[in-house]
Amino acid sequence: MVEIICKKIIAYSLGTRIVQLELKSPLIAKKTLPGQFVVLMVSEKGERIPLTVVDKDEERGTITLIFQEAGFTTRSLGSLKEGDFLYALVGPLGNYTEIKNYGKVALVGGGVGIAEIYPVAKALRKENNHLITILGARTKDLLILEKELKQVSQELYVTTDDGSYGRKGFVTDVLQELLTIHYALNAIELIYAVGPVPMMKGVSQIAKDRGIKAIVSLNALMVDATGMCGCCRVTVDGKTKFSCIDGPEFEAQSIDWEELGKRTKMYQDKETHICKLYNR
Ligand SMILES: Cc1cc2nc3c(=O)[nH]c(=O)nc-3n(C[C@H](O)[C@H](O)[C@H](O)COP(=O)(O)OP(=O)(O)OC[C@H]3O[C@@H](n4cnc5c(N)ncnc54)[C@H](O)[C@@H]3O)c2cc1C
Ligand code: FES
Repeated sequence: MVEIICKKIIAYSLGTRIVQLELKSPLIAKKTLPGQFVVLMVSEKGERIPLTVVDKDEERGTITLIFQEAGFTTRSLGSLKEGDFLYALVGPLGNYTEIKNYGKVALVGGGVGIAEIYPVAKALRKENNHLITILGARTKDLLILEKELKQVSQELYVTTDDGSYGRKGFVTDVLQELLTIHYALNAIELIYAVGPVPMMKGVSQIAKDRGIKAIVSLNALMVDATGMCGCCRVTVDGKTKFSCIDGPEFEAQSIDWEELGKRTKMYQDKETHICKLYNR
């Protein structure tokens, strides 16, 4: 049983909530590294869901998770209060991000993917990288961690789909512009992106056109997170890989984006149905 120490609603717009939870978990706090995730179960009969460890505090023995209420399980998780307990928590899982001095790094975060780039940004900054951070949200009220990422970045750009804050448009528009107008060829050594599949696919294409290495962290659907069930499979360089044990990070240009896009939408109708039943 894992206690919820602190809960905050950090963003809200038109029925979409982004929630931050601090959980008591001294061992995971001690072990986890940027890029890794945990799998949790809200209740004994619930499903397992993977969430990135966004922050940790070894002294307090806590980890911080940030999630968007997307379907049944994230909504159940979001309904818990401080002092409540989760049924189970496993981690840290997945491979950690390769942190070193690359030089100039462009970090691209879309939606709740911003939460996933934050620990990587902090670690890259410690290695004296020059960070160019591009954040995108559907609307101003759903933008998260802007202040925190500004503190660790040399440059920060914000886009919103509806133009309510920052520049109107997509993160990929800014990335494209930076690479074609403001930065000389080969000035940016690495692009690190997390967000919806179409966004990461767009980043991948831009990186490919410019010959820049791009790493993405995939939010593939997962069940066991041990490489046994096959749920999180993704085709990378024509070979089957499992996001839970081979990832969650992969080189963007090697991914079969069409297949991944279809797989992430596979249970959409069923999920909408269960959420309707739940709300009755
Ligand atoms: C390694 C990893 C780290 C993750 N880290 C975070 C995180 O830090 N914060 C966060 O909010 N989410 C994160 N996710 C995604 C998160 O696991 C899903 O949002 C969650 O499982 C949804 O569960 P649900 O039962 O509420 O909704 P579901 O019933 O599973 O789905 C509701 C709808 O949301 C969409 N959806 C569900 N899961 C995903 C997914 N994995 N990727 C894209 N779309 C999806 C589908 O369209 C689906 O129909 C991560 C996923 C992985 C694999
Ligand atoms: S989640 Fe089962 S193989 Fe990765």
